[in-house]
Formats: sequence, C-alpha cells, structure tokens
Amino acid sequence: MTHLFDPITLRSLTIPNRLWLSPMCQYSASDGVPNDWHHVHLVSRAIGGFGLIVSEATGVLPEGRISPEDVGIWNGTQVDAWRTIVSAIHGHGGLVAVQLAHAGRKASTYSGWRGSGSVPVDAGGWSTVAPSAVAFPGYAEPVELDLAGIDAVVEAFAAGAQRAMDAGFDAVEIHAAHGYLLHQFLSPLSNLRTDEYGGSLENRARLLLRVVEGVRAVIPDGMPMLVRYSATDWTDGGLVADDVATVATWAASAGADFADVSTGGVVPADIPVAPGYQVPFAERIGRDGIPVSAVGLITEAQQADAIVAEGRADVVMVARQGLRDPYWPRRAAFELGVPAGSDWPVQYARGRW
Ligand SMILES: Cc1cc2nc3c(=O)[nH]c(=O)nc-3n(C[C@H](O)[C@H](O)[C@H](O)COP(=O)(O)O)c2cc1C
Repeated sequence: MTHLFDPITLRSLTIPNRLWLSPMCQYSASDGVPNDWHHVHLVSRAIGGFGLIVSEATGVLPEGRISPEDVGIWNGTQVDAWRTIVSAIHGHGGLVAVQLAHAGRKASTYSGWRGSGSVPVDAGGWSTVAPSAVAFPGYAEPVELDLAGIDAVVEAFAAGAQRAMDAGFDAVEIHAAHGYLLHQFLSPLSNLRTDEYGGSLENRARLLLRVVEGVRAVIPDGMPMLVRYSATDWTDGGLVADDVATVATWAASAGADFADVSTGGVVPADIPVAPGYQVPFAERIGRDGIPVSAVGLITEAQQADAIVAEGRADVVMVARQGLRDPYWPRRAAFELGVPAGSDWPVQYARGRW
C-alpha cells in the first residue's frame, strides 16, 4: 500500500513525498518580479517538508496576470529573481514547479484585499483577451483572440517554460483550470468560437494541446509536466469529468505527465464545498491511468494519507492548510507516526517529537 510519505517518480524526477504545496497567488509583486515575500513564503514551505512546491500562477505575458501584482516570467529580470528563490528552495532540500499561467478574460482584476472586479486601464489595468468576446460576470468584456493571437499565446507558454529552465525550476505546471485562458477555451460556456478552436471537444482542447507540445519541446525529456484542470464547471452545459478525463488523456499523449485535479471557476456556480469534495474528480481522471493529485479542503493528516492509501489519488495538494502552517508536512508525518526522516533541518531537529 502506498502512503503519503512515500516517494513518487515522474519521468526522471523523484519527489520525496506525496504531500505538495498547491499554487497560491500572493498578489505581492511589482512588474511581475518575485521579491523577498515570495522568497520567505516559498523557502519556508521547503523547510516545512512539502515534497513539491508549486509556485503561484505566473504570467507568461503581462496581460496574462490575474492582477497587476501577480508574478511573471516574461523577462530576464523576473528570471534572475526566480533563480535566487529556486536556488534557496534547493538549498533547503525542496523541489519547485513553476505554474505557467494566462488569465484571459479573468486578467486585470483586483486582488482580494484591494477591491473587486476589473482594474480599469487608467488605474493600472489592461484590456483582456479570451476565446470569445464574452465577459466573466461582473468583469470587463475581453477581446476575442484571432489566430495570430492564439499563436502568440502558444509561443509565450513555451518561452515561459524556457525561462523557467533558465531559473532552475524542477518541473512545469500548465494552468488550465479555474476559468483562466486555457480553461476558457476548453469550456463551451466561455468558448463560442466557430473556427478550429471552438465547437467540438477536440477543437476546444486544441490550444491546450498546442501549449503542452510547445512546452514539452523546450523542457528536458526527464522533466515532468503537470497540468491543472477544472474537472467540472458545476454548471449545466459546461465541462463534466468525462470530458476532462478525455482531454487529460490527449494531453498525456502530447507530453504531459500528471493531472492536478481541481474544479470550477469558468462561471460563478454553486459548489458543494465539503472536506475532500474534489477527490472523486481526481479519482475519475486517474482511472484512465494518468497520475493525479487531489486538492480542496484536505486538512487532516489521516484524511490526506487515506486518499493516497486507498488509491483515490497519487498525491495530495494542500493550499490553505499550508498558509496556516508552513511546516504542516512535518506535523502530519509526526501524527502518522512516520519515522522522523534525516531530512529535517538540524536546527529544527529538537522539534521532531
Ligand atoms: C490565497 C490563495 C491563492 C491561490 N492561488 C492559486 C493559484 O495561483 N493557482 C491555482 O491554480 N490555484 C490557486 N489557488 C487555489 C489553491 O491552489 C487550491 O486549489 C484551493 O485553495 C483548494 O485547496 P485548499 O482547500 O487546500 O485551500 C489559490 C488559493 C488560495 C487560498
């Protein structure tokens, strides 16, 4: 039986455990450059023992940021700042994946504590793009991407991945969930196109698959590529888990290795939030043979271990529990009676038991 603190190998990367930090925007950057806050935040979680840290949504283009304060990876200044942080994470025994992102029609919004809705152009925002000129309710109307614009998005993801290699990241995650650009293309609720990028599931998946291929072409063969999906839109007429399972299979054939399974975000919806509520979706996508993670209200060590031990997911990701406690994997290992590993920082060794 596999457990939470057993290693997992994806391509040639062995990740020491199956309790990973889910990506979390910090809305704390200027000009997309990660800073001291991101450094302390991410390195603390490396010391805390997360097997893999996934960076927050990292814009591949300035207009792909969710908020003006998001981090990015579209220029050399950002790469230099990431390199310092990645190297510090490695220095403290951690591994880190970059989450490459484009927010599409959900870009240029106020980050939680600064306001709500779209940031106007004259207040530091920008005009957004999407598969179709249909706004997310309450946000500014986006401009429909033309074919040249779609090509530019593919190139930006590949260039972002290339820069991530330069910065030393261990893996890449493509953000195709939560109603951001790649999910907007996948979902019939936001993609009303009539060209080869709209209509059938195959057409709606075309952009994601081009991105997967483009990224795979610039990262080493041995490096894993994760894709974060929303496995349901929680809305009639939207994506359902079987659709997303099919897309995940195509993405695997195109070079992706792992499905990070979340849900929702493309339209406002009533989501029956409860402990572990997204685990059945990970289970469904994983049934087709793709390694998967489950995320969402997983807050107890036994709960996390059971998800892996029962084979419902290969990995558990936690977000908010990792905000409350950067050392939660250390605490969870203790609660599960996992022998204290030799990986504890010596400075903290007396806190083991
Ligand atoms: C502050 C915060 C920021 C987040 N930012 C991102 C993000 O950048 N990318 C992403 O895919 N999900 C993001 N999420 C979603 C989380 O990764 C996670 O899927 C969600 O919070 C459910 O997990 P939890 O119940 O363990 O918090 C964010 C969540 C929080 C709380």
